[in-house]
Amino acid sequence: MRKPIIAGNWKMNKTMNEALELVDEIKDETNKTDVEVVVCCPFTVISEVKKAIEGSKVKLGAQNMHWEDEGAFTGEISANMLKDLGVDYVIIGHSERRQYFGETDEVVNKKVIKAIEKGLKPIICVGETLNEREKNKTFDIVKRQTLTALEGVGKDGMNDVVIAYEPVWAIGTGKTASSQDANEVIAYIRFLLQNKYGIEVSERVRIQYGGSVKPSNATEIMNETDIDGALVGGASLKAEEFLGIVNF
Ligand code: 13P
Repeated sequence: MRKPIIAGNWKMNKTMNEALELVDEIKDETNKTDVEVVVCCPFTVISEVKKAIEGSKVKLGAQNMHWEDEGAFTGEISANMLKDLGVDYVIIGHSERRQYFGETDEVVNKKVIKAIEKGLKPIICVGETLNEREKNKTFDIVKRQTLTALEGVGKDGMNDVVIAYEPVWAIGTGKTASSQDANEVIAYIRFLLQNKYGIEVSERVRIQYGGSVKPSNATEIMNETDIDGALVGGASLKAEEFLGIVNF
């Protein structure tokens, strides 16, 4: 059985006080659930959020990292820096990073390899744009993104990998993929993992859905056979909504 994982991606939101208020509101309730709960915060609040979740079951995540250990990369954050702060998870290859910051599949791959090497658990995001979906390219895109992201990652490396299928057209739009469509793509990703790593790995890796997940659609999404969790944007910014999803 795969343990469900619900991660909040706060994106570029929450000042320190706002962040601490939010974690304070979610941590007690989170202790009552068997779902793994992760908050992927902006870098600026990570160290204080770490202290605030001490003793609770909430796990800490970041939203990005650089693939080099250190050096002249102005404005970037390394895997070692995240480890130093006690970060467990790191989102890699979010579509907003691909779209606005030019991240390619190759860059995503370098980051995934570095995260695994440093003991961070990557949440690797894949997903097609509306244009690609309309041209029936969903499966091709997801295949290319998934397999390139995992190039050079061996079976052992897959222990800590989480994949998030986030159709770009469903992010922040209020449109969700139907739970059946999402499940079909996620089952396909699992099939790709089976081809590459064998059934034991493919049955173990958790694959989330992301894109306008709300308390009102969380149960339906989570009831699908291959969907193991959600990567939540907008609804992760309010305790009540996020907990509504965690308690699907
Ligand atoms: P929304 O839940 O706001 O659609 O965002 C999804 C997302 O991008 C999570 O990474």
